[in-house]
Amino acid sequence: MDKVRWFFSLLSEMFPPSATFTEKDVPDVTGKVFLVTGGSSGVGLELCRILYHRGGRVIVAGRSEQAYNDAVTNIKANPAKDLKDFPKGSLEFLKLDLSNLTTIKPAAQELLAKVNRLDIAWYNAGVMTPPVGSKTAQGYELQWGTNVVAHFLLNRFLSPLQLKTAQSAPKGSVRTIWVSSSAHHFGPGPYGINFDDINYEHADKKPRSFTTYGQSKVGDVLCAYEYANLVSDKGILSLSLNPGNLKSNLQRHSGFILRHVIGRMLLYPPRLGGLTELYAGFAPEPAANKGFTYIIPWGRIGVLNKDVKIGLEQYDTGKKLWAILEKETDKYM
Ligand SMILES: NC(=O)c1ccc[n+]([C@@H]2O[C@H](COP(=O)([O-])OP(=O)(O)OC[C@H]3O[C@@H](n4cnc5c(N)ncnc54)[C@H](OP(=O)(O)O)[C@@H]3O)[C@@H](O)[C@H]2O)c1
Repeated sequence: MDKVRWFFSLLSEMFPPSATFTEKDVPDVTGKVFLVTGGSSGVGLELCRILYHRGGRVIVAGRSEQAYNDAVTNIKANPAKDLKDFPKGSLEFLKLDLSNLTTIKPAAQELLAKVNRLDIAWYNAGVMTPPVGSKTAQGYELQWGTNVVAHFLLNRFLSPLQLKTAQSAPKGSVRTIWVSSSAHHFGPGPYGINFDDINYEHADKKPRSFTTYGQSKVGDVLCAYEYANLVSDKGILSLSLNPGNLKSNLQRHSGFILRHVIGRMLLYPPRLGGLTELYAGFAPEPAANKGFTYIIPWGRIGVLNKDVKIGLEQYDTGKKLWAILEKETDKYM
């Protein structure tokens, strides 16, 4: 039964019904502070467009100030749907390179020095299927290091501020969102993470980069799940999501067929992915949901991959990963 449910959920992640929670449903966010990593492009850009045009203070974290400036021009010139007449918020750049852990502490310190609250953090930045063998500055497999390890470290710095924010914010409004993907269904067996050799340093044959991308997206789910265990009774809602299959810069490393043929048939406009992330941030359902929340396009509660779920519930894979990441990131604190 579980298998059948999972199969139909996966199918509906690829062919979702229309969004029901859209730009006009965002509550007043005046005075609230948001962080979006990778907010200068694709899904993150669409989310920042909505937050800005609804009046939020938006911190856009990324590695290129030029890309940020281009995004600001784009956002200001093209208001989010239905939000043209609302008072605007603000946009600020936070420089960080998730492929280099030494950049995370200074970025976090800069952020903590200028804001006194953090309502929602969307750990959205990501890289997909770079050439096999691509590595971060610290030698992590590039997708693992960028999508998982760096966001984990960033969260270590930001968690105290979100906990403080939660003390006086309305219940369920302070959220930490770890952006995953339907690719989390395709991590390595048995439970989505190759714990014996996460970076595949000792493998005779390197896996396909879609497998390591899938593993990194399982890593995002596991972080969200374990963080929820640690902080849900302290007022932070930690959840994960698949934004949907979207035409963005994420496919920059993909082959011609995927980008131009399959992409045309299966990829949707990035605004819809922004709506999935918006739902994760503001919809009431995730706050009312019992247990862990995994959101699917374009804003519904979905079903985790069954093996990933078994790993979490029966083999404590979330706790195991959390302990590994804590140990590995201690020296960058
Ligand atoms: N598009 C899809 O079909 C899809 C499907 C499922 C899940 N997702 C997930 O959705 C998220 C957003 O993806 P997207 O589709 O919007 O892709 P995108 O257009 O490529 O945006 C990704 C963002 O991440 C940033 N980024 C990458 N590496 C970085 C680094 N080392 N340091 C700082 N920022 C970095 C990129 O900045 P640069 O321009 O500097 O690289 C870019 O702003 C990702 O986590 C992705 O895995 C996307």
